[in-house]
Amino acid sequence: MISRSSRALVGLVLSGLLALPLVVAAAPKKKPGKPAAPAKAAGNAKKGAVAFKTEGCSGCHKTKDIPDGGPMKDLSKAGAEKNAAQLAAFIKNPVGASAMPAFKGSAATLADIVAYLLTQK
Ligand code: HEC
Repeated sequence: MISRSSRALVGLVLSGLLALPLVVAAAPKKKPGKPAAPAKAAGNAKKGAVAFKTEGCSGCHKTKDIPDGGPMKDLSKAGAEKNAAQLAAFIKNPVGASAMPAFKGSAATLADIVAYLLTQK
């Protein structure tokens, strides 16, 4: 004969067992170790150094390896001052630099130029 209280106990244990998977499911899943801001297709800094000249950037800007660049802001520290996203956004839309034309080239070339500027620190 199962007593009232032991039946209650069985019920309690069963409901506890039912609730367990819910608790486990609700626990936050561990994300694989991705960086906080995954970089888009990383550019090629070597190609970027070439594009920096062919796209006219060096007509206005110097860098460490282009000391004979133009008289506008020296970008020898550009990679220390801005991250990739900031550089790309500025080059596409140079807010506050009215003398600088917005870059209209391809996304791949922009990524290359950004990769190149990130070497400037
Ligand atoms: C006609 C001249 C001119 C050309 C061409 C030009 N820029 Fe600029 N650029 C400027 C001026 C002016 C500024 C603002 C300088 C300042 O804030 O002191 C600037 C600012 C920048 C800055 C931001 C620097 C900072 O830290 O605020 C970056 C990065 C930059 N240019 C990259 C480029 C790239 C890459 C190209 C080629 C695609 C380019 N520029 C072409 C004139 C030019």
